[in-house]
Amino acid sequence: MSKNPGVPHHIAIVMDGNGRWATRRFLPRLAGHKQGVDSLRRCARACVDRGVGVLTVFAFSSENWNRPADEVSGLMELLAKALAREVPQLKKDGVRLHFVGERATLSSKVREGLAQAEAATAENTRLVLNVCFNYGGRWDIAQAAAVLASRGEPITEASLNATMGLAHVADPDLVIRTGGEMRISNFLLWQAAYSEFYFSDRLWPDFDESALDEAIAAFASRERRFGKTSEQILAAQPQPMPG
Ligand code: IPE
Ligand code: IPE
Ligand code: MG
Repeated sequence: MSKNPGVPHHIAIVMDGNGRWATRRFLPRLAGHKQGVDSLRRCARACVDRGVGVLTVFAFSSENWNRPADEVSGLMELLAKALAREVPQLKKDGVRLHFVGERATLSSKVREGLAQAEAATAENTRLVLNVCFNYGGRWDIAQAAAVLASRGEPITEASLNATMGLAHVADPDLVIRTGGEMRISNFLLWQAAYSEFYFSDRLWPDFDESALDEAIAAFASRERRFGKTSEQILAAQPQPMPG
């Protein structure tokens, strides 16, 4: 849990709806992705302000390679440009960047950009920003199992967990998906086992601070039981001081 009551420590977001945002304005889809970068910058700042410790975003899925070639290359370029532009400010804001996903199939230019951005922000501690890029939940589970098998180590929940892409953070408390679809699309299949889900009809470029606050308020009203009964949860809550 976060230090601020009711605020999730770790928020994960499927940033969906960039394409539709652009199409509705008769713009090319890439214009929506550009707007999506602005929305992410705003969201990361809002998370810092609200005391969220970890923000994990889905930026490019294992399956997004199946999009038209010009959209894929546009997204790769956008990532490289966004890093060059945003990293200095992220550094000042105390944001530590991590990229999660398969790197081997990315171009050497993109791979270098990711490594540089991680190195430049490695000392930061205010907000961990995990960007899932060329990421799939199935890939993550399979790569962790393959690593353990290659080392001859036993495959257990704990060893898998420690070998997966988000081993450096606690599981997400709240998973948000924008854009109106109610599906997981191969995001955090393992780590979202006990996350609260929140679906917003807003397209990602339109997901602003007030939309984030609505999601956090919805989260605060949920009762997380982790398999227990409601009575057990209530009994374990701290009692108010008398008088
Ligand atoms: C999400 O927006 C960003 C990526 C998948 C890269 P979309 O591009 O999926 O937007 P819609 O769903 O087509 O509107
Ligand atoms: C999920 O969105 C991936 C990202 C947001 C990066 P998609 O737009 O790719 O998901 P589907 O295809 O609608 O399920
Ligand atoms: Mg989409």
